[in-house]
Amino acid sequence: MALKPLTWFIQSFNLLLLLQSNKLTGLDSIFNLPSTGSMVQTGPMYYNGIYHLFYQYNPKGAVWGNIVWAHSVSRDMVNWQALEPAIYPSKPFDIKGCWSGSATIMPGNKPIILYTGIDSKERQLQNYAVPKNLSDPYLREWIKPDNNPLVFPNGVNASAFRDPTTAWWEDDGHWRMLVGSRRKHRGIAYLYRSRDFMKWTKAKHPIHSKEKTGMWECPDFFPVSPSGKNGLNTSYSGPNMKYVLKVSLDETRHEYYTVGSYFNDKDRYVPDNTSVDGWAGLRYDYGNFYASKTFFDASRNRRILWGWANESDSKEDDIRKGWAGIQTIPRSLWLDPNGKQLLQWPIQELETLRGKNAEISNKVLKSGENVEVGTGITAAQADVEVTFSFPSLDKAEPFDPSWVDAEKLCGQKGSTVKGGVGPFGLLTLASEKLEEYTPVFFRIFKAPNKHVVLMCSDATRSSLKATGLYKPSFAGFVDVDLADKKLSLRSLIDHSVVESFGAGGKTCITSRVYPTLAIFNNAHLFAFNNGNETVTIDKLSAWSMNKPQMNA
Ligand SMILES: *[C@@H]1O[C@H](CO)[C@@H](O)[C@H](O)[C@H]1NC(C)=O
Ligand SMILES: *[C@@H]1O[C@H](CO)[C@@H](O)[C@H](O)[C@H]1NC(C)=O
Ligand SMILES: *[C@@H]1O[C@H](CO)[C@@H](O)[C@H](O)[C@H]1NC(C)=O
Ligand SMILES: *[C@@H]1O[C@H](CO)[C@@H](O)[C@H](O)[C@H]1NC(C)=O
Ligand SMILES: *[C@@H]1O[C@H](CO)[C@@H](O)[C@H](O)[C@H]1NC(C)=O
Ligand SMILES: *[C@@H]1O[C@H](CO)[C@@H](O)[C@H](O)[C@H]1NC(C)=O
Repeated sequence: MALKPLTWFIQSFNLLLLLQSNKLTGLDSIFNLPSTGSMVQTGPMYYNGIYHLFYQYNPKGAVWGNIVWAHSVSRDMVNWQALEPAIYPSKPFDIKGCWSGSATIMPGNKPIILYTGIDSKERQLQNYAVPKNLSDPYLREWIKPDNNPLVFPNGVNASAFRDPTTAWWEDDGHWRMLVGSRRKHRGIAYLYRSRDFMKWTKAKHPIHSKEKTGMWECPDFFPVSPSGKNGLNTSYSGPNMKYVLKVSLDETRHEYYTVGSYFNDKDRYVPDNTSVDGWAGLRYDYGNFYASKTFFDASRNRRILWGWANESDSKEDDIRKGWAGIQTIPRSLWLDPNGKQLLQWPIQELETLRGKNAEISNKVLKSGENVEVGTGITAAQADVEVTFSFPSLDKAEPFDPSWVDAEKLCGQKGSTVKGGVGPFGLLTLASEKLEEYTPVFFRIFKAPNKHVVLMCSDATRSSLKATGLYKPSFAGFVDVDLADKKLSLRSLIDHSVVESFGAGGKTCITSRVYPTLAIFNNAHLFAFNNGNETVTIDKLSAWSMNKPQMNA
């Protein structure tokens, strides 16, 4: 099957991104990975100095279908080169599609990909592929050996059996991997064991399952160190380790994760009692973010998270835009010292794109005040870090315990609804007179024995003219200690996407937005305070972001 080279990447601020979106907004560059079709990254890995990003891609258009594993490579996860698709339908075991999966680095430094293939009976099967030539630094060609599939959907629902995880090795001489599934409305991660990676046996019980969560897609299961920022390889074993199980919920199109313990003798994962196990659980990201995957980066001992910023627009809009989703910026992730959640931060390499800088320090914002951040930087493509402080929490609004849904609360209490401590934060992608803007902000409430911090990324005013687009007011709570009376925020702004990290990466929100006025040089960046308590910008640093090399 001859496939055209992928020509749609352009140079842009951040990752591989594309271009094509000008029809709605006049953008010429955006900083994430484009996608026609979908853009679910799949099987990311680091191998011999190169990062490989594979992603679910439709070579024939910006709609879902004809899914292949497209392939891009990078030495720093900032500058990218697109190659020919690595895996595409060609054999009876994947003739109707090559869906998501994972890469595992085998002993002897040999990568192997596990992926879901769809056969002519529409069954979901687990297959493998190996590089044709391990000496090719880019691993351009992949072979799907004839002993595929490795796993048939025996004793499971054949239309709900997909997305094998990275496999891990245990001292009992067996590899393990998980496959996402469901039984009725129960979400399931089935566990398979193998001595030789070829013959797999389903364990008697799933590693974990949860009622009322529906289909589990793209499960991810990995160990995290109890302290420090270093990542652990998926086969790592040691004392006091914690584990993370993340699942993508097909029904809500959100992901949630729990932190817990893995009992390898019983092959059971048990979430800690501090983690909510269900739809209301913790999310990596409270915005447009789905089907994520992590991998262990052995070159810098860290675990990297990739997510897909999905779109929710109609097929017609996707075709008009030329894409149906982009890649978020890769993030490092590690366990919060409180042991209850993960922390995430954009990879350090991104900072190589920082250009001109603007700073504000010790600037007091009274109730209702805005300040514009340096006109010398490109507000449409910027990296902003800010720390706010407030003298007291006494004026915080009372918290009503029935407010369990952060997104709903943020919908009611937007950036212009006056509060006590907050709302304060950034107005990103703002037009000069604020007809359009995407505010990213905090609001602090007082509950009987604690304070509750809400973080919002509100797209409702992001686009004056683009009607009919999905413009939610995304939000999450932030589990942060306010003893020092400070809150920090970092936002990566790139024309049509704002990725924000609250309180050092405790709560993260990605919003896709399509401004019509706040574009290019007409985009502005402000800090604001609409609470009646004064807040101070202790320090704000913003940088223009340069374009990386894309398929140069
Ligand atoms: C494998 O890749 C190396 C490096 O690109 C190349 O020199 C060699 O000829 C390739 N081998 C085969 C059999 O294609
Ligand atoms: C099997 O999975 C399909 C697709 O998710 C679903 O429509 C069907 O109801 C499932 N069957 C059972 C028995 O759960
Ligand atoms: C993973 O870590 C273990 C230590 O627990 C080490 O023995 C093993 O070689 C590592 N595997 C890889 C692929 O780096
Ligand atoms: C949660 O688990 C810890 C041990 O991991 C235990 O000390 C604590 O009592 C448990 N809390 C609840 C509410 O069950
Ligand atoms: C994208 O995510 C939103 C939730 O943020 C969901 O409502 C929508 O269905 C998703 N769209 C696709 C194509 O996954
Ligand atoms: C500040 O706002 C809070 C919450 O809206 C309100 O209860 C309080 O009366 C306000 N205080 C002042 C001085 O306006």
